[in-house]
Amino acid sequence: MTNSPAAKKVSLIVYFIGFTAALAGLLFGLDVGVISGAQHFIEKEFKIGDQQIEIIVSALLWGAVFGTLISGVISSHFGRRRTILVSAVIFILGSLACAMAPNEHALIVSRFFLGIAVGVASFTAPLYLSEIAPRTVRGSMISMYQLMITIGIVLAFLSDTWLASYATFGGITGGHWRIMLGIIALPAAVMFVGVLFLPESPRWLFLKGLKERAVNVFRRMHLDDAEIAAEVQEIEDSMKVRQNGFQMFLQNSNFRRAIGLGIGLQIIQQLTGINVVMYYAPKIFALAGFEDVNEQMWGTVIVGVTNVLATFIAIAFVDKLGRKPIMYAGFVVMGLALLTVGSLFNADIEKNPSLGYPAIGALLVFIIGFAMSAGPIIWVICSEIYPLAGRDLGVTCSTATNWISNAIVGQTFLTMLSTLGGGNTFLLYGGLNVLFILFFLVLVPETKGISLEQIERNLMSGLKLRKIGK
Ligand code: BGC
Repeated sequence: MTNSPAAKKVSLIVYFIGFTAALAGLLFGLDVGVISGAQHFIEKEFKIGDQQIEIIVSALLWGAVFGTLISGVISSHFGRRRTILVSAVIFILGSLACAMAPNEHALIVSRFFLGIAVGVASFTAPLYLSEIAPRTVRGSMISMYQLMITIGIVLAFLSDTWLASYATFGGITGGHWRIMLGIIALPAAVMFVGVLFLPESPRWLFLKGLKERAVNVFRRMHLDDAEIAAEVQEIEDSMKVRQNGFQMFLQNSNFRRAIGLGIGLQIIQQLTGINVVMYYAPKIFALAGFEDVNEQMWGTVIVGVTNVLATFIAIAFVDKLGRKPIMYAGFVVMGLALLTVGSLFNADIEKNPSLGYPAIGALLVFIIGFAMSAGPIIWVICSEIYPLAGRDLGVTCSTATNWISNAIVGQTFLTMLSTLGGGNTFLLYGGLNVLFILFFLVLVPETKGISLEQIERNLMSGLKLRKIGK
């Protein structure tokens, strides 16, 4: 890129677009992260047990499944921009409804409603970004979206910690779970205002026959005539391929294999156990012998910061080392780390309190293993393996699978703790991580540096899944 004033303008406007749409990632992260710190106080106020807490945690995730499933239709009918605007409104209303919930039932319904926004945003914002970003910055914009999720999680952990222990409202210090949940309406309102200024996706405008408006969007982004012509050419080429995922699914076993791979990858991402930590970190700190709520909250913040920082490892190496070497390293690290956590928990921490620190150390190593590998890279592979004509259906299936398995993990952890015990629960997750290495060995292709068209040709020619990349 040159340093001419025009080039500079391009990046400013394009980055405004990227940042605003990536706010959807931030909200997604805020809503995922906020519940861990709020649980303890919700439990106390509503006098409820583990089972209801599990349902409160996972109601948002079931809402997200529903949101993902309806996103394709809504965003193709009303446009990407308007769909993100609607999700911002649901984010605002849902957060306020959670904050005002008079009882656990109302909270469950409100979390489901809020989850619809999370699902819609998790489908539409990356789609919008990939459609509007000029080729030169497409990769970094999508990585920015992933990073925003982890930043959202850590901001929620920080705000929870402040509201749990330090903030004074109405003469009461700490325990403000309603504010924890309600405050997310503020960034949602910022996103709503920001999105009002965003242009519609030029690809969607083309699809609706509004070519002039699409070209105007590129002009607003200060693309020059040659760049506009190249983008237009690319859109026209891709429009020759009609989305006919359902038909293809029924008729083409190669496409079904790719769908199966995406579904398998997303189940694996969730069965690593990452969200057990994201949703229940304070409880895990309690298991490790940290009984003070304040200590648990700060420990959770450290988990969140580690998650953000280790994501940079993936961003730095994914296009250099390739997807698979990083995945192997990540799964070995995650497997060993969780087996260590499980063994230490089984060694009776109550009698040996000094084991709490190494257990938490191993838990942080697990987070590093996830954030540098499965966290971002499974999303990357899922965006690469589907043939163009079935990409919408493919991404819908894999994203919905992510939320379904996410909900199942969120809904079963406390029950597993009380039936299997903390040690065995983590040994089980650790064992699964080791087992998943086989899945990568046998089924997952290396997709680094190979064009999506080549991957599609390889898949459709019947090559083994492992070979459809390099
Ligand atoms: C996963 C989420 C998880 C997050 C943690 C994402 O890639 O899909 O389920 O909460 O990573 O950073």
